[in-house]
Amino acid sequence: MPKISKLFFKTAILFLLVGIAIGLKMSISGVHNVTGAHAHANLLGWVTMAIMGAYYALAPAKAEGRLAIVQYGVYTLGVLIMIPALYMLLLGNPQYEPLVAGGSLITFAGVILFAFIIFSGERQAAKA
Ligand code: HEM
Repeated sequence: MPKISKLFFKTAILFLLVGIAIGLKMSISGVHNVTGAHAHANLLGWVTMAIMGAYYALAPAKAEGRLAIVQYGVYTLGVLIMIPALYMLLLGNPQYEPLVAGGSLITFAGVILFAFIIFSGERQAAKA
């Protein structure tokens, strides 16, 4: 399995642990106030990262390029900023809104890079 796929899966499982912990916290307390942070940790963190990792395993030539590690870094940074900030925002701290916005835009940049990698030819992706 390419290194980038291992990296994506290791990061993804950490987000699933956090996402489920937030879900259990809501279930046990009966206070469903941070559903957005829970859903995004699970879906942007666990599900999307696992799919990205699986893609690189299926397309190893694309996994070799420097662009793949940049894509991992940008996407992960975005989700890492967005989830805790969204959690704090949903707990009633509006000052976290700019951080949620910034994290969301960085996450989106990571997805645009991933789209570029998917559409690029294998040789071009490996060179980049
Ligand atoms: C043990 C694991 C989990 C627990 C205890 C849990 C718990 C919860 C709770 C309490 C809510 C709030 C429900 C509401 O107020 O309507 C929720 C919402 C949600 N969960 Fe989970 N969850 C778990 C796993 C997952 C996973 C693995 C995913 C995705 C891969 C997920 C995706 C969602 C989504 C998208 C919502 C929002 C649903 C909506 O607003 O309609 N959850 N979860």
